[in-house]
Amino acid sequence: MIIAVDGPTASGKGTIAQALAAHFGLPHLDTGLLYRAVGRQVFLDGGDPDNGGDALAATSFPDSLLLDDALRSEETGGLASRVSVHSSVRQALFERQRAFATQPGGAVLDGRDIGTVIAPDADVKLFVTASVQARGERRWKEMTGRGLDVAQADIEADIARRDARDMNREDAPLKPASDALILDTTQLGKDAAIAMAIEVVEERR
Ligand code: C5P
Repeated sequence: MIIAVDGPTASGKGTIAQALAAHFGLPHLDTGLLYRAVGRQVFLDGGDPDNGGDALAATSFPDSLLLDDALRSEETGGLASRVSVHSSVRQALFERQRAFATQPGGAVLDGRDIGTVIAPDADVKLFVTASVQARGERRWKEMTGRGLDVAQADIEADIARRDARDMNREDAPLKPASDALILDTTQLGKDAAIAMAIEVVEERR
């Protein structure tokens, strides 16, 4: 069983994908981490994330980089969003994701283009979304909880900028697959969203 979980930043898709993987006993790949590793590697190389050649070179990042805490930062998220625009980068990361999706027994993958590009043949496709305000508030709570001094308005502006870049790029733009089920978590708590996702998978598999 392949489960594709797509959606914009801070929608809860990662949490939902993790919970589905645990519930159904499947391996999970957060594909955003691959793009974050490329963004981070460009930075470490002193390259330009908007330059396709620099970004492509960074796709040969070492596996150990995937464990680096720096990948989780907002800065790296922004770099990831910039390198992910380049088709050459997306192609370079395709095989790794496809191989994970098609491993015997199945898998859960979360990202932006799992249901549309990486696994159009997925058994279940979820598109997890929420309003910019709801996502901004969640991210703000999470960041201030970690002791960071950030303004919610700045976070919302950053989320809106990242949405626009992800949705308007030419290659693999962020959008629900035609056969995806939309799960809007604006009014849903974490546990309710997870319960609903499990129910959808049970129904559709
Ligand atoms: O999901 P996450 O915020 O970690 O992703 C970081 C960035 O990587 C996204 O803003 C998006 O531009 C890019 N990405 C992508 N395709 C994926 C996963 C992430 O383009 N499958």
